[in-house]
Amino acid sequence: ATPGLLQGLKVVVTAGPTYEDLDPVRYLGNRSSGKMGFAVAASAARAGAEVVLVAGPVQLPTPPGVQRVDVRSAEQMRQAVFAALPADIYIGAAAVADYTPRAFSPSKIKKTGTGQVLALDLVRTPDILAEVAAREDAGLKLVVGFAAETDNVADYARQKLTSKRLDLIIANRVGVPGAGFESDTNAMTAFWPGGERDFASAPKVQLADALVALVAERLQA
Ligand code: C5P
Repeated sequence: ATPGLLQGLKVVVTAGPTYEDLDPVRYLGNRSSGKMGFAVAASAARAGAEVVLVAGPVQLPTPPGVQRVDVRSAEQMRQAVFAALPADIYIGAAAVADYTPRAFSPSKIKKTGTGQVLALDLVRTPDILAEVAAREDAGLKLVVGFAAETDNVADYARQKLTSKRLDLIIANRVGVPGAGFESDTNAMTAFWPGGERDFASAPKVQLADALVALVAERLQA
């Protein structure tokens, strides 16, 4: 990252999955290593920003100069994000679980008989990114989302850009080798109202620097 590129700006980044507890031993969660979000937080800090990193359950070291808040569930992530605002830039790189159990079972849910079906009641989690983007008192100059898709990547990314009222969305295809999830490399396409840019497959650390440069560019636009 270019030193000074984000000097004087506060950036809130979310990273990793969220875990939604079903009972004391089981949870629902998305696959996510948190590597991309952590790389973006590290890059923003190198660019001179004050960075708050709200991290779901991941095993990654805290990047230098980054203030880290660990959370487990989507609701906890939402609260930590709102506690970290106001900020200039929000980057939602977390793979937030879309559903959470309607009720947590304090005792372990017993297995059904073989061949029987277990039905779970799930409710939607809050869409943290959409809520953040809708806030008018958070001081945000740029709200950035991620879209991991298996197909129709560009269409879905553009839809999310509009429906969640984002300034920038970073789309990547999942389910292909060398991209997404646990991978150290990724290929991505950035979309903003009126433009797009492709980033060829590269280490996440390098893509994070390119993303921070694009964020700085979009701030000037
Ligand atoms: O709609 P979808 O989940 O694919 O959107 C992905 C983007 O929205 C990511 O930036 C993710 O961090 C954010 N998101 C969120 N809260 C949710 C679901 C997704 O902030 N409950």
